[in-house]
Amino acid sequence: MNLVVHKFELRQPSEVYIAASRYRKFWCYRKKFYNKISEISHFLHLFRFTQPKKGAREMGGTIFTEINQVLSSFPPFNSFRGGEISATEYQKWVQEDGFGTVEGLNEDKINLSARFPRDKHEFVRMVLSQCRALDIIDDDSYDAKDTDEALGKVEASYEHGKYATYIFPEESALLYAIVRNARPARAVFMGSYYGYWAIAAKAAMPTMDLTLLDINQEVMEVAQKSFGNCGLNVKTKFTVADAEEEVAGIEDIDLLVLDAEGPKSNAIPEDYRDKAIYYPHLKAALNNLKSGALLVAHNVILSNFTGGAYFEEKQRYYRQQYKKFLPLLQENFTYIVLDSTEGTLVARKN
Ligand SMILES: C[S@@+](CC[C@H](N)C(=O)[O-])C[C@H]1O[C@@H](n2cnc3c(N)ncnc32)[C@H](O)[C@@H]1O
Repeated sequence: MNLVVHKFELRQPSEVYIAASRYRKFWCYRKKFYNKISEISHFLHLFRFTQPKKGAREMGGTIFTEINQVLSSFPPFNSFRGGEISATEYQKWVQEDGFGTVEGLNEDKINLSARFPRDKHEFVRMVLSQCRALDIIDDDSYDAKDTDEALGKVEASYEHGKYATYIFPEESALLYAIVRNARPARAVFMGSYYGYWAIAAKAAMPTMDLTLLDINQEVMEVAQKSFGNCGLNVKTKFTVADAEEEVAGIEDIDLLVLDAEGPKSNAIPEDYRDKAIYYPHLKAALNNLKSGALLVAHNVILSNFTGGAYFEEKQRYYRQQYKKFLPLLQENFTYIVLDSTEGTLVARKN
């Protein structure tokens, strides 16, 4: 069975959006109020946050921290995070006012904030049970305290170098939980970048045999340093190579993570452009995946649960990117696409 399950809103859309006319007036007032507060906080924000934010970016770090830091002075963001307005209402603010008002976040970053789950642990619990219901995983137990402790330790020692990652907190927590429950003996990351997602997996099972594959030597050096800092470099291989070629020599894989991206240039073959590269990567790894092996892939946004033009276009783009990858999955796996901030696909080989 191949399913795409969309995250349901935990709250009903606000009555403001049900469009009873007597609420329209209230909505206009509320919008003006938000705009005014946004103007004031934006003004303050220029003084309070511009320098630290720039500094943080130069040093690298998570995009989540950057987005959170910039938006924390904007009331609509806080209302959304606090559960007072729905993702749909917040996304509307982002598109109508936010993108023009908030300085320092590009269009991708501000729009991604609308996909932040209200509570990362609640999100992980919900999606684990969806994976369990489809028999993709056998065990959906989840210990929020243990996850926070383990990933908090990693966070404290992780050096991002000059790099930034779009792995979001619920995505690290989800991978941690999957590994903690499934106990894969051997895992491979194709396009590991500087290892930030991979270390969430390794922290869940330090005895796991892990291979990071990336063509970029500089990012691999950053990964190696941070894994060393965290004491998680035992049984970890840091391989600078083309993942497609290298994976052919790694047998009996229990967990495969896809996160490479090729250049976006039209000058290279379509199958290797941007995220379309998942197709040749999966094809190369397929025979080396054990039956029942797990596959996790990042950047699979196939829904527009927040509404609006930005994610409508994003999902159209990704469907195009994955036009060969998804049929290959359908033939060989049971899979689910989860609405994490950047979209995470979880699959089990048949
Ligand atoms: C930019 S990262 C993905 C980022 C990740 N989603 C995050 O936010 O942390 C993609 C990585 O794929 C790597 N890559 C691209 N093509 C590759 C290939 N053929 N083999 C191995 N790695 C590759 C790039 O060097 C890069 O480090």
